[in-house]
Amino acid sequence: MDSRAWDDRYRSTDSVWSPSPNEFVKEYLFTLPPGRMVDVAGGEGRHALWFAQRGWEAENLDFSSVAVSKSLQRASDLSLGDRFLGHVADANSSQDFYLAPANLVVIAYLQIPAPELASAIANAARQLVAGGVLFGVWHARENLTDGVGGPQNPAVLPTQQELGTAFSEANLVVSFAGLRRRSLEVAGESREAVDVVVMARAPEMVTCG
Ligand SMILES: C[S@@+](CC[C@H](N)C(=O)[O-])C[C@H]1O[C@@H](n2cnc3c(N)ncnc32)[C@H](O)[C@@H]1O
Repeated sequence: MDSRAWDDRYRSTDSVWSPSPNEFVKEYLFTLPPGRMVDVAGGEGRHALWFAQRGWEAENLDFSSVAVSKSLQRASDLSLGDRFLGHVADANSSQDFYLAPANLVVIAYLQIPAPELASAIANAARQLVAGGVLFGVWHARENLTDGVGGPQNPAVLPTQQELGTAFSEANLVVSFAGLRRRSLEVAGESREAVDVVVMARAPEMVTCG
Protein backbone atom coordinates (compact mmCIF):
# COMPACT_ATOMS: atom_id res chain seq x y z
CA MET A 1 0.00 0.00 0.00
CA ASP A 2 1.25 3.49 -0.77
CA SER A 3 0.94 6.50 1.53
CA ARG A 4 -2.38 7.61 -0.05
CA ALA A 5 -3.97 4.22 0.57
CA TRP A 6 -2.74 4.35 4.18
CA ASP A 7 -4.12 7.88 4.54
CA ASP A 8 -7.54 6.62 3.38
CA ARG A 9 -7.38 3.74 5.84
CA TYR A 10 -6.49 6.05 8.74
CA ARG A 11 -9.25 8.48 7.72
CA SER A 12 -11.85 5.69 7.66
CA THR A 13 -12.05 5.21 11.43
CA ASP A 14 -10.93 6.79 14.71
CA SER A 15 -8.48 4.01 15.62
CA VAL A 16 -7.16 1.53 13.08
CA TRP A 17 -4.93 -0.10 15.73
CA SER A 18 -5.29 -0.84 19.41
CA PRO A 19 -3.96 2.08 21.46
CA SER A 20 -1.98 -0.33 23.68
CA PRO A 21 1.63 -1.07 22.81
CA ASN A 22 2.51 -4.43 21.27
CA GLU A 23 3.21 -6.99 24.01
CA PHE A 24 6.75 -7.70 22.74
CA VAL A 25 7.64 -4.00 22.70
CA LYS A 26 6.66 -3.92 26.37
CA GLU A 27 8.36 -7.22 27.25
CA TYR A 28 11.75 -6.44 25.65
CA LEU A 29 11.99 -2.69 26.21
CA PHE A 30 10.27 -1.72 29.46
CA THR A 31 13.52 -1.75 31.47
CA LEU A 32 15.42 0.67 29.19
CA PRO A 33 16.20 4.01 30.84
CA PRO A 34 14.48 7.00 29.19
CA GLY A 35 16.27 8.69 26.31
CA ARG A 36 15.38 9.58 22.72
CA MET A 37 13.31 7.11 20.72
CA VAL A 38 11.95 6.97 17.18
CA ASP A 39 8.98 4.83 16.16
CA VAL A 40 9.53 4.12 12.45
CA ALA A 41 6.25 3.51 10.55
CA GLY A 42 4.59 4.25 13.87
CA GLY A 43 1.07 4.79 12.49
CA GLU A 44 -1.21 6.36 15.11
CA GLY A 45 1.76 6.47 17.47
CA ARG A 46 0.88 3.86 20.11
CA HIS A 47 4.53 3.05 20.80
CA ALA A 48 5.91 6.59 20.70
CA LEU A 49 3.07 7.67 23.02
CA TRP A 50 3.82 4.81 25.44
CA PHE A 51 7.49 5.80 25.61
CA ALA A 52 6.64 9.52 25.98
CA GLN A 53 4.39 8.61 28.92
CA ARG A 54 7.42 6.87 30.44
CA GLY A 55 9.58 10.00 30.23
CA TRP A 56 11.22 9.48 26.82
CA GLU A 57 11.50 12.10 24.08
CA ALA A 58 9.61 10.35 21.31
CA GLU A 59 9.24 10.79 17.54
CA ASN A 60 6.53 9.12 15.51
CA LEU A 61 7.67 8.78 11.89
CA ASP A 62 5.25 7.55 9.23
CA PHE A 63 4.62 8.29 5.56
CA SER A 64 0.89 8.76 6.27
CA SER A 65 0.28 12.39 7.21
CA VAL A 66 -3.18 11.41 8.52
CA ALA A 67 -1.66 8.89 10.95
CA VAL A 68 0.97 11.39 12.12
CA SER A 69 -1.70 14.08 12.70
CA LYS A 70 -3.72 11.64 14.78
CA SER A 71 -0.66 10.80 16.89
CA LEU A 72 0.04 14.50 17.49
CA GLN A 73 -3.57 15.05 18.60
CA ARG A 74 -3.31 12.09 20.99
CA ALA A 75 -0.04 13.43 22.41
CA SER A 76 -1.68 16.79 22.98
CA ASP A 77 -4.75 15.16 24.64
CA LEU A 78 -2.34 13.33 26.97
CA SER A 79 -0.37 16.56 27.67
CA LEU A 80 2.74 14.99 26.13
CA GLY A 81 3.23 17.64 23.46
CA ASP A 82 6.51 18.87 24.96
CA ARG A 83 8.24 15.53 24.36
CA PHE A 84 6.44 14.16 21.30
CA LEU A 85 7.28 14.89 17.66
CA GLY A 86 5.45 13.84 14.51
CA HIS A 87 7.46 13.31 11.33
CA VAL A 88 5.95 12.58 7.91
CA ALA A 89 8.66 10.73 5.99
CA ASP A 90 9.37 7.57 4.03
CA ALA A 91 11.16 4.98 6.15
CA ASN A 92 13.21 3.96 3.10
CA SER A 93 14.59 7.41 2.42
CA SER A 94 17.88 8.50 3.94
CA GLN A 95 16.18 11.43 5.70
CA ASP A 96 17.48 12.07 9.22
CA PHE A 97 15.19 11.52 12.19
CA TYR A 98 14.43 14.66 14.20
CA LEU A 99 15.72 12.92 17.35
CA ALA A 100 18.87 11.44 15.82
CA PRO A 101 21.10 10.17 17.25
CA ALA A 102 18.52 8.02 19.03
CA ASN A 103 18.90 5.63 21.97
CA LEU A 104 16.13 3.42 20.61
CA VAL A 105 14.39 2.80 17.30
CA VAL A 106 11.24 0.66 17.16
CA ILE A 107 9.94 -0.79 13.89
CA ALA A 108 6.60 -2.54 14.42
CA TYR A 109 4.76 -4.30 11.60
CA LEU A 110 6.41 -2.43 8.72
CA GLN A 111 5.40 -5.11 6.20
CA ILE A 112 7.20 -4.14 2.99
CA PRO A 113 9.33 -6.14 0.52
CA ALA A 114 12.72 -7.33 1.80
CA PRO A 115 14.97 -4.90 -0.15
CA GLU A 116 12.96 -1.88 1.06
CA LEU A 117 12.85 -3.21 4.60
CA ALA A 118 16.62 -3.70 4.52
CA SER A 119 17.09 -0.08 3.52
CA ALA A 120 14.74 1.11 6.32
CA ILE A 121 16.74 -0.99 8.83
CA ALA A 122 20.06 0.39 7.52
CA ASN A 123 18.74 3.95 7.69
CA ALA A 124 17.56 3.44 11.29
CA ALA A 125 20.86 1.80 12.32
CA ARG A 126 22.83 4.76 10.97
CA GLN A 127 20.94 7.05 13.36
CA LEU A 128 21.51 5.18 16.63
CA VAL A 129 23.94 6.24 19.33
CA ALA A 130 26.76 3.75 20.00
CA GLY A 131 25.11 0.93 21.95
CA GLY A 132 21.62 2.14 20.94
CA VAL A 133 18.85 -0.43 20.45
CA LEU A 134 16.96 -1.30 17.29
CA PHE A 135 13.89 -3.41 18.08
CA GLY A 136 11.66 -4.86 15.36
CA VAL A 137 8.53 -7.00 15.26
CA TRP A 138 6.82 -8.25 12.11
CA HIS A 139 4.09 -10.68 11.04
CA ALA A 140 6.28 -13.66 10.15
CA ARG A 141 6.20 -15.68 6.90
CA GLU A 142 5.20 -18.65 9.10
CA ASN A 143 2.00 -16.80 9.99
CA LEU A 144 0.62 -17.74 6.55
CA THR A 145 0.46 -21.43 7.43
CA ASP A 146 0.58 -21.49 11.21
CA GLY A 147 -1.03 -18.27 12.41
CA VAL A 148 -3.80 -15.79 11.95
CA GLY A 149 -4.18 -12.19 10.71
CA GLY A 150 -1.65 -9.95 9.01
CA PRO A 151 -0.99 -9.56 5.28
CA GLN A 152 -1.32 -12.68 3.13
CA ASN A 153 1.33 -11.72 0.55
CA PRO A 154 4.55 -13.63 1.34
CA ALA A 155 6.67 -10.86 -0.22
CA VAL A 156 5.88 -8.56 2.73
CA LEU A 157 6.27 -11.22 5.44
CA PRO A 158 9.97 -11.25 6.31
CA THR A 159 11.81 -14.49 7.02
CA GLN A 160 14.31 -14.80 9.85
CA GLN A 161 17.03 -15.21 7.23
CA GLU A 162 16.11 -11.98 5.41
CA LEU A 163 16.08 -10.10 8.72
CA GLY A 164 19.39 -11.68 9.79
CA THR A 165 21.01 -10.45 6.56
CA ALA A 166 19.50 -6.96 6.88
CA PHE A 167 20.59 -6.53 10.51
CA SER A 168 24.07 -7.85 9.83
CA GLU A 169 24.52 -5.61 6.75
CA ALA A 170 23.42 -2.67 8.92
CA ASN A 171 26.30 -3.55 11.28
CA LEU A 172 23.99 -4.32 14.21
CA VAL A 173 24.73 -6.85 16.95
CA VAL A 174 21.68 -9.10 17.41
CA SER A 175 20.85 -10.23 20.96
CA PHE A 176 17.56 -11.96 20.13
CA ALA A 177 16.01 -13.12 16.86
CA GLY A 178 13.20 -15.61 16.72
CA LEU A 179 9.54 -16.43 16.30
CA ARG A 180 7.09 -15.48 19.05
CA ARG A 181 3.42 -16.39 19.35
CA ARG A 182 0.82 -13.80 20.28
CA SER A 183 -2.72 -14.67 21.44
CA LEU A 184 -5.61 -12.78 19.95
CA GLU A 185 -9.35 -13.19 19.72
CA VAL A 186 -10.88 -13.84 16.30
CA ALA A 187 -14.68 -14.12 16.06
CA GLY A 188 -14.90 -14.92 19.77
CA GLU A 189 -12.23 -17.64 19.58
CA SER A 190 -8.73 -17.53 21.01
CA ARG A 191 -6.13 -17.88 18.21
CA GLU A 192 -2.37 -17.34 17.85
CA ALA A 193 -0.44 -15.11 15.48
CA VAL A 194 3.20 -15.82 14.63
CA ASP A 195 5.51 -12.80 14.83
CA VAL A 196 9.21 -12.53 14.19
CA VAL A 197 11.05 -10.41 16.74
CA VAL A 198 14.59 -9.01 16.51
CA MET A 199 16.44 -7.02 19.17
CA ALA A 200 19.86 -5.60 18.29
CA ARG A 201 22.33 -2.91 19.30
CA ALA A 202 24.65 -0.59 17.43
CA PRO A 203 28.25 -1.49 18.25
CA GLU A 204 29.76 0.22 21.31
CA MET A 205 32.63 2.63 20.64
CA VAL A 206 36.02 0.96 21.01
CA THR A 207 38.60 3.19 22.70
CA CYS A 208 42.32 2.67 22.28
CA GLY A 209 44.31 2.48 25.51
C1 LIG B 1 0.63 -2.20 10.14
S1 LIG B 1 0.84 -0.47 10.36
C2 LIG B 1 1.74 -0.46 11.89
C3 LIG B 1 1.64 0.85 12.62
C4 LIG B 1 2.40 0.89 13.94
N1 LIG B 1 3.80 0.54 13.79
C5 LIG B 1 1.76 0.02 14.99
O1 LIG B 1 2.32 -1.04 15.30
O2 LIG B 1 0.68 0.40 15.47
C6 LIG B 1 2.10 -0.12 9.16
C7 LIG B 1 2.47 1.34 9.08
O3 LIG B 1 3.57 1.48 8.20
C8 LIG B 1 3.44 2.69 7.51
N2 LIG B 1 4.32 2.60 6.35
C9 LIG B 1 4.27 1.68 5.34
N3 LIG B 1 5.28 1.88 4.48
C10 LIG B 1 5.98 2.95 4.94
C11 LIG B 1 7.14 3.64 4.50
N4 LIG B 1 7.78 3.27 3.38
N5 LIG B 1 7.59 4.69 5.21
C12 LIG B 1 6.94 5.09 6.35
N6 LIG B 1 5.84 4.48 6.83
C13 LIG B 1 5.37 3.41 6.13
C14 LIG B 1 1.96 2.81 7.24
O4 LIG B 1 1.54 4.12 6.97
C15 LIG B 1 1.38 2.25 8.54
O5 LIG B 1 1.16 3.29 9.46
